[in-house]
Amino acid sequence: MIELLDVKKRLGDRQILDGLTVEVQKGLNYVLMGPSGTGKSVTLKHVIGILRPDSGTVRVDGKDVPSMNQDELMALRKRMGYLFQNGALINWLSVFDNVALPLREHSRVKKSELDDRVHEVLALVGMDHAADQFPPSISGGMKLRAGLARALVTRPEYVLYDEPNAGLDPIISQQIHELIAEVRDTLHVTGLVVTHSRACATQCGDRIGVIKGGRIVVEGTVDEMIHSDHELAKAFLGEGSD
Ligand SMILES: Nc1ncnc2c1ncn2[C@@H]1O[C@H](COP(=O)(O)OP(=O)(O)OP(=O)(O)O)[C@@H](O)[C@H]1O
Ligand SMILES: [Mg+2]
Repeated sequence: MIELLDVKKRLGDRQILDGLTVEVQKGLNYVLMGPSGTGKSVTLKHVIGILRPDSGTVRVDGKDVPSMNQDELMALRKRMGYLFQNGALINWLSVFDNVALPLREHSRVKKSELDDRVHEVLALVGMDHAADQFPPSISGGMKLRAGLARALVTRPEYVLYDEPNAGLDPIISQQIHELIAEVRDTLHVTGLVVTHSRACATQCGDRIGVIKGGRIVVEGTVDEMIHSDHELAKAFLGEGSD
């Protein structure tokens, strides 16, 4: 379980998080929505310990993240995949080598096992045929799939998805949402998904929270949120939004 409790964080002269509380239950996808610049990516960075809160609590499976030492943070990041916007692949490495990167960084895996693990996750996201291609020559959807494979290659218990469908057309987006739901259902990965998209939230989410002014202003199950009268639930999840 990921817990952020009453988290406050100032960056520069702005109070970005101001009493943020989010609980991500094991086995579920929690979707974080909210206007641009409201601290969604900042929230994800607290979960993997890149940023530390000024006050409040950040815990993963009961362990306090801000007080972890470097070794503990490395161990945490092994258990936590991070899907960056647009996949954030390294252009001069092949898809295979991009996906292999976390295994080469974090663990001593034998070459034969590394090959197997990389091909296994590439097959899972439907990218095994493109293992030898380089990022500049593949489409946005393929980059995102490769980014997802890289996030999954360490067999994490958690994946943080930062706008997994930004810049993708609706059909490719839907495939990505289905993949995120499949990752939850077949690999039992717990997800924290940041998105602006109603389709993403409803197709792969379990709970949805909307952040504004540095805190969650409305939260509930997908069904509750779709039917909520709250102005921001309507803005992000109502008919005609997306
Ligand atoms: N390291 C930093 N130093 C100073 N300000 C920062 C830092 N990181 C983020 N910010 C500021 O914090 C605010 C929230 O940033 P964040 O990236 O979390 O927004 P977001 O909700 O993810 O927005 P978007 O939907 O556009 O991605 C922004 O105003 C940003 O400029
Ligand atoms: Mg962001």
